[in-house]
Amino acid sequence: MLTEAEMKNTSRLFARSLDFLRAIFRKCSRGKYGYAPLCETPLAQPSEYYRLWHEAKSRTYPSVDRYEQDCEAAIEPDWFHQLALLTQVVIKRSELCYQHGRLLYSTLVRYVRTQGRDHLTVVDTGTARGFSALCLAKALHDMGATGKVVTFDVLPHDVKIFWNCVRDADGPRTRESLLKDYSGLIKRYLIFQRGDTYQELAKMSFPRVNFAFLDSVHSYDHVMAEFSSIRDLQKTGDIILFDDYTLGVYPGVVRAADEICLTHGYLKNVVTANTQRRYLVAEKR
Ligand SMILES: C[S@@+](CC[C@H](N)C(=O)[O-])C[C@H]1O[C@@H](n2cnc3c(N)ncnc32)[C@H](O)[C@@H]1O
Repeated sequence: MLTEAEMKNTSRLFARSLDFLRAIFRKCSRGKYGYAPLCETPLAQPSEYYRLWHEAKSRTYPSVDRYEQDCEAAIEPDWFHQLALLTQVVIKRSELCYQHGRLLYSTLVRYVRTQGRDHLTVVDTGTARGFSALCLAKALHDMGATGKVVTFDVLPHDVKIFWNCVRDADGPRTRESLLKDYSGLIKRYLIFQRGDTYQELAKMSFPRVNFAFLDSVHSYDHVMAEFSSIRDLQKTGDIILFDDYTLGVYPGVVRAADEICLTHGYLKNVVTANTQRRYLVAEKR
């Protein structure tokens, strides 16, 4: 017969062994790539990503078409969709919609035309696979502008992971490798910063932030924190583009963006792609 103390010890030992076995199982199921912030294995076959891509390409967005016409600038559709296949077409519950890339491009081209093309600083919070940063870099390139797009994410640039994208079938890869076809634009314009924008953005010493795209954490506090790091670096005509300015989905983003525009003098232009995706282009007065 075991005493009560021996029984307790035995069950503690048993529970610890179970935890240990579970940890080993988790590690084995991830293969040799233990770090898996997005997914641990490919989530679908390439054919499924292609199917989603064709579906996304076939949707039309008249409000975004009109916005491009107003800006007199539109990103090359083939370049845009090819980049989206790699960086935007993912397995998720909500409908794919990557129209922010078109808005970023048109808005930045218009900015360069009206405000000048030299030494521009563009901030992009939430790099993910690099889609928004590359649409911004493409605008600078097409306008012959000089400057940098500084893009921030907690995700690493040089660690092999699965990205929940069409290339996952070939194994995990770094973001650098995922974007190798865009290395020219990357070398010329992009700076990848890894870290939480709450701290990282505040550490930067930009002379000015001509254009910012805020798309990392979609909460009131986080948007306000990011804004506080760029607030004093914007002049008349400078832009902040808020992704997901959608009341029913991201009330924190809407509250923060409205407060910023009201108290810091930004003109608002809302573009609605669909009921789930609205964007706010805010221009400093
Ligand atoms: C909606 S995605 C960005 C999409 C990207 N802008 C695009 O167009 O493809 C949000 C990204 O923010 C990153 N993120 C989350 N919290 C963050 C933080 N505190 N600081 C910086 N990036 C963060 C996530 O890792 C994720 O990649």
